[in-house]
Amino acid sequence: MVDRLFLVGMMGAGKTTVGQVLADRLGWPHLDSDGQVAQATGRSIPEIFAERGEEAFRAEEAKALTRATTSATPVVVSVAGGAVLDPENRRLLGRSGSVVWLRARVDTLAARVGSGDGRPLLDHDPAAALRHLEAQRRPMYQQLAQLVVDVDDLPPTLVAERILAGLDRLSPCIQEGGP
Ligand code: S3P
Repeated sequence: MVDRLFLVGMMGAGKTTVGQVLADRLGWPHLDSDGQVAQATGRSIPEIFAERGEEAFRAEEAKALTRATTSATPVVVSVAGGAVLDPENRRLLGRSGSVVWLRARVDTLAARVGSGDGRPLLDHDPAAALRHLEAQRRPMYQQLAQLVVDVDDLPPTLVAERILAGLDRLSPCIQEGGP
């Protein structure tokens, strides 16, 4: 049974780390949308923003998500924070698998991203940018997610446990140890 698990949420929520833990537990491959963009373009995310701008980055991101959401095998996908801005991405995610929102308070996110190094949208005032972006995106994460995990006080392994327990209720076809 093919299934796809999409982790959404803000920068600093832990999507990449938790995605890898979950993929290991499920025996599924792990994709990270930023990693896919970097691989496809041969450029880092900050380089793409600097050389071609956010719009070009979003176009690459949408292509990466189209590939991930049509994967023929089960997959865990860590979806970069801003991908939900595009209604077409939201539609693809919503109809292609189970969506989990790693929800965190803005102060948690700010503590985790620190000076915002390597994150072009947080270049100037990371805490203020996170506050603004979180307020804008929260309704989109909320609308998409079938499962929400509050990650503020949880290490990645426990976040993964909560997700596995929650998915068990949502989708009985997901079993640990392999498809
Ligand atoms: C972004 C999130 C980043 C990366 C880029 C823009 C965003 O990914 O795609 O810096 O708009 O929230 P992560 O959410 O994996 O940090």
